[in-house]
Amino acid sequence: MTIDIREAASVVPAKQTRPFPSNFLFGAATAAYQIEGAAAEGGRRDSIWDAFSRVPGAVINADNGDVACDHYHRYRDDVALMKRMGLETYRFSTSWSRIRPDGGVVNAEGVDFYQRLVDELLDAGIMPWLTLYHWDLPQALQDRGGWTNRDTSDRFTEYALDVHDALGDRVNVWTTLNEPWCSSFLSYTAGLHAPGHYSRGEGMLAAHHLLLGHGQTVRELRARDESLNLGITLNLTVADPVDAGVPADLDAARRIDGQFNRWFLDPIFQAAYPQDIFDEIADDALRAAIRPGDLETIATPIDTLGVNYYHGEYVGGTPPAVPPIGGEAPTDRRGESPFPSSEGIFWHERGLPRTPMQWEVQPEGLSRLLKRVWTEYAQPAGTSLFVTENGAAYDDEPVVEGGVVRVHDEDRVDFVRAHLGAILDAVDAGVDVRGYFYWSLLDNFEWAWGYEKRFGIVRVDYDTQERSIKDSGLEYSRIIAARALDA
Ligand code: NOJ
Repeated sequence: MTIDIREAASVVPAKQTRPFPSNFLFGAATAAYQIEGAAAEGGRRDSIWDAFSRVPGAVINADNGDVACDHYHRYRDDVALMKRMGLETYRFSTSWSRIRPDGGVVNAEGVDFYQRLVDELLDAGIMPWLTLYHWDLPQALQDRGGWTNRDTSDRFTEYALDVHDALGDRVNVWTTLNEPWCSSFLSYTAGLHAPGHYSRGEGMLAAHHLLLGHGQTVRELRARDESLNLGITLNLTVADPVDAGVPADLDAARRIDGQFNRWFLDPIFQAAYPQDIFDEIADDALRAAIRPGDLETIATPIDTLGVNYYHGEYVGGTPPAVPPIGGEAPTDRRGESPFPSSEGIFWHERGLPRTPMQWEVQPEGLSRLLKRVWTEYAQPAGTSLFVTENGAAYDDEPVVEGGVVRVHDEDRVDFVRAHLGAILDAVDAGVDVRGYFYWSLLDNFEWAWGYEKRFGIVRVDYDTQERSIKDSGLEYSRIIAARALDA
């Protein structure tokens, strides 16, 4: 019997692939304090993270960023690695305490490092994506109140303009702040991040001044150069009620959404704090801090919104019978809630897989989040949407095969594929997502978790500083080369 070749072809399904839009950018992200090291070199002075790392019990194993991935000295090799992996863009942050070590006068050596880094990226054909503030405030400014002091917003804008003086001719994409929720509420209210304060009022003031610093920096950079692509990166979430038919559960989800997402999205896109949450949490100090014109400044139009997505929240208005395994506090800090209004909000277990951070793995949450943020905020404002962070820590086990270090991190391979698939689902639903940055390029200093948690697609051996591309990094490279995901 002969087989008709066309008939055979029709029964053997062709390998399905899902292409990414032609304008989609693939990248990876890092942040200065987490990778640079060289903490006391090149004129750099203490940031709040240097100081906080010295507080007993603040960081697991008393780790700090003194050496980190030694990227300050190894940036050329790291850029070469990015090129080998086929990355199209690299999201990094400049360190305020390198550029203005005391918050004031500019340090030429600090500026020079970023000029060399950017030149290296451009030579490698990798687009630099610069974040101005990834949490490392100069300690000298913290000594004057840090982000609770309105003056810090002005100092931030001055620092941003210095960076622009140095790099404005070579860097097009500028992100003002990374995750201001963390640098306000997690830092000044929950005490888990530097400067480690426990104050609801301080958290709210810090958030307002961060947003103000963002808005006035966008305005000033825009005035200098209209062609810059300006934006902000927020850590956003999807808050699901345990039972959508139970008012108290719905209310818990509304309040989490309000304090995480809307508290930042609404002022940036609509020049107003969300009224429901404002009525619930605003104290006299916040009301006095919001001066006429502030919200208009905060709402200065942006070109790009960066979404950092790791996991969702599953909350109810009553305590669960069995408490969930989750919880974000790695250290024995006091355990204050980062939410100014947290009474009557309880996290529940819904049986999703969890990473070693105890974060749920919930890729479909990313599709929902992107659809919502696109429809309600970005699209009406003409703002582009990027996923500027997404990634997972797993307990990697390096093995030596044929003299080469390998990390068979299947969990992370699946994680990346699932989240890229979720982005394609959002694209299919009409959301214009323009790119994805895996967090992180390298294993690095995971804040209060120190070096215990590894998020990289590249392993770092902290004894030798040797880099090894993990299986997830190899898979990501393949996806970038194909510009498509195998189904
Ligand atoms: C968000 C932060 O931007 C980054 O610094 C951190 O390491 C990752 N999430 C993972 O927690």
